[in-house]
Amino acid sequence: MAVNICGTGSYIPSHVMDNDGIAGLVDTSDQWIRERTGVKRRHIVDGETTVSMACEAGLQALRQADVAAEEIDLILVSTISSNVILPCAACEVQKRLRAVNATCFDLSAACTGFVLAYNTAAAYLAGGIYKTALVIGSESLSNLTNWKDRGTCILFGDGAGAAVLKADARRMYFPVTHSDGGKGGALTLKSRHDWNVLNAPVQGDERYNGDEFFMQMDGKAVFQFAVKKVPEVIRETLERNGVSQEEISWFLLHQANKRIVESVAKRLGEPIEKFPMNIQEYGNTSSASIPILLDEMNRRGALKKGQKLVMAGFGAGLTWGAALYEWI
Ligand code: UT7
Repeated sequence: MAVNICGTGSYIPSHVMDNDGIAGLVDTSDQWIRERTGVKRRHIVDGETTVSMACEAGLQALRQADVAAEEIDLILVSTISSNVILPCAACEVQKRLRAVNATCFDLSAACTGFVLAYNTAAAYLAGGIYKTALVIGSESLSNLTNWKDRGTCILFGDGAGAAVLKADARRMYFPVTHSDGGKGGALTLKSRHDWNVLNAPVQGDERYNGDEFFMQMDGKAVFQFAVKKVPEVIRETLERNGVSQEEISWFLLHQANKRIVESVAKRLGEPIEKFPMNIQEYGNTSSASIPILLDEMNRRGALKKGQKLVMAGFGAGLTWGAALYEWI
């Protein structure tokens, strides 16, 4: 038993912030951001929420799949930036889509989130527990960004992507995923809902560090981790499934930094044309980046029947992983 991606969708906020806009906030320049990251602009929520974007992306995917909301058995939302904690974002999506028969929960694995959500849904479908799943990655990272920190605010953006998955009788591909919590300090974000924080919410208290409530990143460490681990996990995934690298038409990598994607392509010895990118337009949208890319490729007809593709995510945790899929 395998899965069939039978519809995709995405939502991008219309409000754009270009690099000059960022240069008005911190000591940076359009040239530095483009050269070091590949980002030219990012889209930022302006009234939208993580849930509203998830709903729009999900609706598009359902329409394309020609699947009615009541047919969905499982809704999984991957996010680290939900505007709601209770009920979870997936239950909010269920309510708005009227997907009354779905079981719903969120998954938090940052930039590896969509790959892990896809794998989770695929396992449920392959196990015969559910038949139809809606998997969404939605992020409003601008709410978690320290707009005074040039090491992070240049990179991130907002958006959502979604895919409808159905159980399918074809061969199943096994994903490969890893985590290393010991290296988690490289990319962190503290919750404000912590006893220590709630009881020391004033500056000057040694337990209070306002910057902790925004994403903090050792960019170099994450970069080095990504360029080493992503090619490794892709090779591991291909080996586990007995698929050769030459059989892969597309490598859909998490859009973290153009230089990371270029380095992975080089380390795998593959032409960069097999690594589609949209980071220039959206920045790094964490768990939304892969499904947005997938939807764009699908809608422009770039994905042909029988083509094999690899989706690979990496980021906070640290976590990383890859999944193989054959387009039908
Ligand atoms: O989504 C998953 C998790 N995240 C990632 O995968 C992100 C991985 N990391 C990165 O993308 C990159 O590390 C960054 C884009 C965040 C930073 O790029 P970098 O090439 O690693 O820059 P750096 O931190 O090594 O800094 C290089 C220089 C430094 O100056 P000196 O010491 O060489 O004089 C920085 O102070 O660039 C300076 N710098 C900047 N200059 C202008 C750092 N940030 C900026 C900036 N504008 N925004």
